[in-house]
Amino acid sequence: MGFIADSLNRIQPSSTIAVSMKARELKEQGRDIIALSAGEPDFDTPDNIKEAAIAAIRRGETKYTAVDGIAELKQAIIKKFKRENGLDYKPSQISVGTGGKQVLFNALIATINPGDEVIVPTPYWVSYPDIVMLAGGTPIFVATTLENNFKLRPEALERAITKKTKWLIFNSPSNPSGAAYDHDELKALTDVLAEHPHVWVLSDDMYEHLVYDDFTFVTPAQAEPRLYERTLTMNGVSKAYCMTGWRIGYGGGPETLIKAMQKLQSQSTSNPSSVSQWAAVEALSGSQDFIARNNSIFKERRDLVVSMLNQAKGISCPTPEGAFYVYPSCAGALGKKAPSGQPILTDEMFVSALLESEGVAVVHGAAFGMEPHFRISYATATHVLEDACQRIQRFCANLR
Ligand SMILES: Cc1ncc(COP(=O)(O)O)c(C=O)c1O
Repeated sequence: MGFIADSLNRIQPSSTIAVSMKARELKEQGRDIIALSAGEPDFDTPDNIKEAAIAAIRRGETKYTAVDGIAELKQAIIKKFKRENGLDYKPSQISVGTGGKQVLFNALIATINPGDEVIVPTPYWVSYPDIVMLAGGTPIFVATTLENNFKLRPEALERAITKKTKWLIFNSPSNPSGAAYDHDELKALTDVLAEHPHVWVLSDDMYEHLVYDDFTFVTPAQAEPRLYERTLTMNGVSKAYCMTGWRIGYGGGPETLIKAMQKLQSQSTSNPSSVSQWAAVEALSGSQDFIARNNSIFKERRDLVVSMLNQAKGISCPTPEGAFYVYPSCAGALGKKAPSGQPILTDEMFVSALLESEGVAVVHGAAFGMEPHFRISYATATHVLEDACQRIQRFCANLR
């Protein structure tokens, strides 16, 4: 028996963070590296948000706060849920944590007993299965297909539900595929869930605002009010508000769940940063105009990347509705050899040879539970993306 807890042996370090670290290392060695591996906007936090944080520091808002969020931020979140999602919550139904990740973590750790099952559609955000396993639960993976644009089908959801199912983790727009469910697609799923009252829904709406081509976002508790009593609607300021480093995420849900999450947080991190909470009040209540401006740039980049990837030999890339990721298949490049003679048999071999020969860092699909694919984050300057896609095209053309 080693010193480290058995529960830690059930999980892996985050592969997206691992690839970004590898890219940083190679860069430090002087290599010309383009990293398309990190899930964060290249845009800076808007000035009004920064100013609100500076003002909070000057006012002395630098002490401990209520464990799961200051009243002002809870009010801003309540207004956001009403305004944008048509959902009504009381302050006792809101939980604020250190990033969306802590909110998810709290919810899963606070509810999962050994043997509980959690349905996780693939491809998934890397942390879902690991948090479930840390809690002693079993992730039940349900495959999607490229032909269905990576969207979960209602019949597949129905088949995956058992007496032991505790949660469905639902993520639209998705990291890593960028797939987002429109109202009808979501309603088909919530119709299934409505028939299984023991199944709770953890809706990760982190990329809500990052949708393109007039797509209308909808969240499960809004599409099916019968799910309101058993849904945690989770969101945060990291992505749309360009605030990844500030670490603020939040969720709205039934009081009993929120109370349990608060209890857990009170014995781990206590409150999220007081200064960041004041910045988040401004983010949610101030001008939202920059989101549309950023989105028009993201959309241009998405179209550029999709088009250039589809011109790369052996790569096939559907056009996603949202987020800032594409998730192309590299099936057509497998079975070949890189110029170094290295065989390319899996997506992991593909991305490692791509990094070695062209200096482009992307994340292999196996990390997200669906192979053979890779994830590109296009939240990077347009000319850099163009350079990266040219390198990918050259890499694929040189495979033999
Ligand atoms: C789908 C999804 N959920 C949650 C998070 C966590 O966000 P935060 O940085 O606020 O913890 C991320 C961040 O990468 C994400 O992609």
